[in-house]
Formats: sequence, structure tokens, C-alpha cells
Amino acid sequence: MATVTMKAPAAGGLSNKARELMEAINTEAGKHNIWVRTQANAPAQRPWFSETSGEGSGQLGTGRVAVNQMKTLPYMWKWNEYGGYLKQISQIAQKADVSPIEFADRQSILLLNPGLNGRLQVTNTIRCAISIYNPGDVAPVHLHSPNASRTILSNKGGYTVIEGERVTANRGDLILTPNGTWHDHGNDAEEPVIWIDTLDWPLMEFLDAAWVDHNMPGAQRNTNVQAVTVPEGYSRHLYSHGGLKPTFVNHQRGVGRDPSPLFHFRGEDVKEMLHSLRKEKGDPHEGIKLDFVNPITGAPVFKTLNYSAQLLRPGEETEWKRETAGTYYVCIEGSGATEVGGKRFEWSHNDLFVVPNFLWRRHINTGKHDAIIYSVSDSALMRAIGQYYAQGRDSKGKVTELPLQ
Ligand SMILES: [Fe+2]
Repeated sequence: MATVTMKAPAAGGLSNKARELMEAINTEAGKHNIWVRTQANAPAQRPWFSETSGEGSGQLGTGRVAVNQMKTLPYMWKWNEYGGYLKQISQIAQKADVSPIEFADRQSILLLNPGLNGRLQVTNTIRCAISIYNPGDVAPVHLHSPNASRTILSNKGGYTVIEGERVTANRGDLILTPNGTWHDHGNDAEEPVIWIDTLDWPLMEFLDAAWVDHNMPGAQRNTNVQAVTVPEGYSRHLYSHGGLKPTFVNHQRGVGRDPSPLFHFRGEDVKEMLHSLRKEKGDPHEGIKLDFVNPITGAPVFKTLNYSAQLLRPGEETEWKRETAGTYYVCIEGSGATEVGGKRFEWSHNDLFVVPNFLWRRHINTGKHDAIIYSVSDSALMRAIGQYYAQGRDSKGKVTELPLQ
């Protein structure tokens, strides 16, 4: 009988020799787009849930599996920097010899997170453009699979028509164009209007599911805009009294699945509610915070993105928190600071900043008045796929798991 001698495997897995032999196969296999696994998935083995360093944000990932994976960087765009570019493009467009739509499609600037390698996105899932519409500008009707919204920065002026409903824009308003809704925009006021366009476009691109349709059946051909078919304020009148749902209308608007049928949240209503709650204790990690929700389901307005507004009282300092979601914020009122990933962003009027996935952060109201900041995060998506976690850290450094809210 032959005797087989088994050599004990080298400690830690493959011997160096075996690894070299395997890698040698890869030289040839790579020509056929094949990789023989010789190393573990390093990022997946990081103890990210208990790790506290936040290392790697703003850098490209390494390792075979995560090669070139992009890590969002904490970053801030100041109004006094980006506002100047809006003014410039508005002036160029006013004097242009062709309509702006012919050379720029939109008069917008797009915010690029410096950690995301030049892509048109502020986090791994969110695109943010700041648009300026001169008096008379019109953006033709269209529909797309990404969800989109406008957060209005100008005091007034401008409008969006969604599924036949015209919505007039004022500062602090959130106007939704859920996926699969026909929408067009314009400005029929005397002054330019500025707003933030927020989209889950990068996520849809990643899923290879981003598409756009410009051919609305029945659109008015001379201007390529849709007809207004319901009264101004239609969806607000139907849905903005919380807890009461009309029974005589179809809540489906557009062709997307379970869209929020409420398209318009007024900034003045948000502000009034926040201020009316300012004597409540609030959340130690957030202050007084409200979520914008679909009035039919109570869920976030988009299945991918959660929109919030929060008020921080003068002197209020939140406790440290981190969550498995990428978030951008914009300051609507007051001033303050946010500390994240070793950086401190001092923010005020219209400043935007990003808090990446699972980095510790805290907010501080450094001003003499209430501060209001709006945020958009992909926590809705992360909750829906069972990947949302949040932790808090108190002043003594004790870390606790935060419940889903
Ligand atoms: Fe759009």
C-alpha cells in the first residue's frame, strides 16, 4: 500500500510559493478577463462596524475586489464661492446669441466631491446641481428613472410643473419630481431663481437603470411644456394635513412605483413647524428634526433618499453620531459648524457640505439665532436593504447602538 504524506499547510493559508504560482496563472488569465483568486477581499474584512478611524475617506480603494472603489470625502462648498459662478453663467446666458438650452441644456453648476474622482456626484449615490434660471427661461418637459427634487435657495421666483400640477417656488421649499413623473421648469418672475437639483442619478447609473424620455404625448409643441391640468397647490391641498388621507382620488402620479403624491413641501410650513417644536427636548444627536415623508405610506419621499430638516438652538451641540448613509446638508437659516472626519465646516447661508458614510460627526449652532439645515441622505435605501446602522458616542466616549427612528 502506498503511503501518502500530507504536508501541513503553511500558517496563514497559502505558502508564498503557491501564491506566486497562482499569480503566474493570472498573467495569462488576465488576457481573457479572468482572475484566479489569490488574495482575500481586504475591505470586506475591515471591522468597519467597530472601527473608529474613518481611514480611507476621499481615497480610491485598493485590493483586487475594491480596486478604484471611491470613498466620499467630507467637503464643503461655500455660497460665496459657488454663487459667483452662478452669477457668471447667468450673465453669459442673458447676452447669448442663442437660447441657453442650445448650448448648455441647463444653466447649472454640478458639485464634485473631491473623493469621487471627478464624477458628477457629492456622495456615492447623490448628484447635486445648482441651477439658475433667468427670467423667461424654460426647461422642456421630460421624465426620467432617477428621482429628483429641487430645494429652493432664492426668496421667490421660478416654478416646476409635475404631472400637470404647477408648483411655485419660494425659499426653503422642497419640490419633488419622483421617478416616472413628467416635469418641466421655468422662471416667469423678474429676477433669476436659484435652486439645488438633487438626484439619485449616480445610483441609477451604477444599476445601469438611468434613462430619460423627452417625448411627452400631447406636450405643447411650440414650447415643449406640458399643460397645467389641476389647480395650483393641488397635492398640498390633498395631502398636507397630516394623518388625513383623501379617499376619492387615485394616489398614483406618473408611471413610477408608489411615488409620493405630495409634490410640494413649503419652506414656510417647515420653518413654522420646526420653530413650534423648539422647546421640545429633541434628539441629542440631531436637535429638532423632521423627515419629509410620502403621506400615503409614511415612508421617505423616495425609496432611495431621505430628506430632512432640522433646527439647532443657539449654543446647541449635538452628541457624536455616525450612520451607514452618505448625507449632504445645506444651511437654510442661521449659522453653525459640523465636525466630521477630523474637519470642521463653519457653515452659514446656502453653504453645502457632505458627511460620508459612517464617519463620526456632530453639529454645533455657533450663532445667536436658531439654525435650520436641510439634509438628503441615502439612508432610505440603506434601510430598505437592511444595511442601516447608527451609533452614538457620548461625552465620555461611550458608544451605543441607536434605534431605528
Ligand atoms: Fe428632470
